[in-house]
Amino acid sequence: MELCEAAKELADRQPWKLNCENFRADCRQLDGKWYLFSEIGCGETLVALVNGPKGEIVDSNPVLLSALLSSPPQGLTSTCSNLRISSVRPISSSQRATIYEALSQDGNRFLVKVMRRADRDNVEHMVLRYLTDAGFTHAPRYVCHAELDLGPFILVSEYVEGEPAASIYVAESSGHETVRVEQLGSLVGKAVAELHQTLYACNEDWCRPEPITEDDVNRWISRLSWRSRWLRTQGTELVPRYERPLVLEAADALEELAGYALESAMLQVGRYKMRTHGDLHLYQIILVGNNIMITDFEGEPYRFPALKVEKEHLMRDLAALARSIDYAAAMGIQIRYGTSLGDASVISSRELATWEVKAFKSIFDSYATRLREMDSPLASELLPRALGFWIIERASYEAVYELTAHTGYHDIPLNAIIRMIDGNDPLLNYVSRLR
Ligand SMILES: Nc1ncnc2c1ncn2[C@@H]1O[C@H](COP(=O)(O)OP(=O)(O)O)[C@@H](O)[C@H]1O
Ligand SMILES: [Mg+2]
Repeated sequence: MELCEAAKELADRQPWKLNCENFRADCRQLDGKWYLFSEIGCGETLVALVNGPKGEIVDSNPVLLSALLSSPPQGLTSTCSNLRISSVRPISSSQRATIYEALSQDGNRFLVKVMRRADRDNVEHMVLRYLTDAGFTHAPRYVCHAELDLGPFILVSEYVEGEPAASIYVAESSGHETVRVEQLGSLVGKAVAELHQTLYACNEDWCRPEPITEDDVNRWISRLSWRSRWLRTQGTELVPRYERPLVLEAADALEELAGYALESAMLQVGRYKMRTHGDLHLYQIILVGNNIMITDFEGEPYRFPALKVEKEHLMRDLAALARSIDYAAAMGIQIRYGTSLGDASVISSRELATWEVKAFKSIFDSYATRLREMDSPLASELLPRALGFWIIERASYEAVYELTAHTGYHDIPLNAIIRMIDGNDPLLNYVSRLR
């Protein structure tokens, strides 16, 4: 019990807690000195595995991490029995996961992702293992993973060293340049086409492509009105008073967009829903030499009312990329003029409208070309109007996500949604002209 108290105190100091009113905390002993601390609140389960009388968090200690992975206590299953870790170095820490670079005793370098939120819907290890087995070269190789009964907990994969594509897009947008972005775009489009083609061939329940029904589309459309209501009720509570009119305006625009988008969205009926990347933004894409590496297959956090494991049409990934280009444009303008992100996200859609379109076109064109080159049946899934629907849907997700996670980026999607209803969004206009 004492140990659990220590664990609770430790967990209370973690920065990854959200502001939930009601938490239910729990601590249980696994085997020996392993304790699993969990806290349930806001529909999420925070987890920390602790060891020893002082309640030391396991994952930042190479000795404990190795012991945990090679002889897992009851309650944890691990496929990492052969891995002997000699050092770990934290490289990123988000609300969802802490990421470490680890060296093994035989001198190999790995990425160790330790989840802060246990989530049974997280299929990242399955996707990565499938892609590795299928010989896919644009994602880090799966090494092993460990799972709690609450959900996947640790994922070990190949460490890749490179530059996030997003940094290049932001640098180019701040300088109004397109040369590198267009080169990079064609690599990204090709890699995403190959990713989709590989996922399309996946033949298990969790990944097998299935025909899209009218019910699917109605459910997808209803996300827009659900999120519009969320913005109006909860979203307005999460911003300072002066920003409430912006949130309300976006909420109204989104409700209206739901009506307009229905017809385009319905064009997907009878097409494929399948496993996609699910959260394909430019910070998840790493340029390694001349190779594109796609990371983080966990899907979107806070995508309510949608389910994480839901299969969707593959235009969804292209929509996420399109929106990510808009983020990069706003960040570039912020750097160029030193304005607030809110102002930058308004200026960028005017000043960088052509830039955004060029940046996206290079991805879309090379994506389409690669699908055709591969003689992929997915070439007939290139549905620009459905892409338009997913651009709206992705922006609605972003608005809810940025507010929920308190990232400070909410102005970007809110302003985009308002532009969309005014007919002024460069990317939505571009895809609506595509045939
Ligand atoms: N295999 C990898 N090798 C090296 N760095 C990686 C790898 N995967 C992810 N990263 C880096 O760690 C960061 C966070 O990883 P990610 O899987 O996206 O977790 P999160 O859920 O925190 O977003 C990424 O932005 C990327 O820069
Ligand atoms: Mg990520």
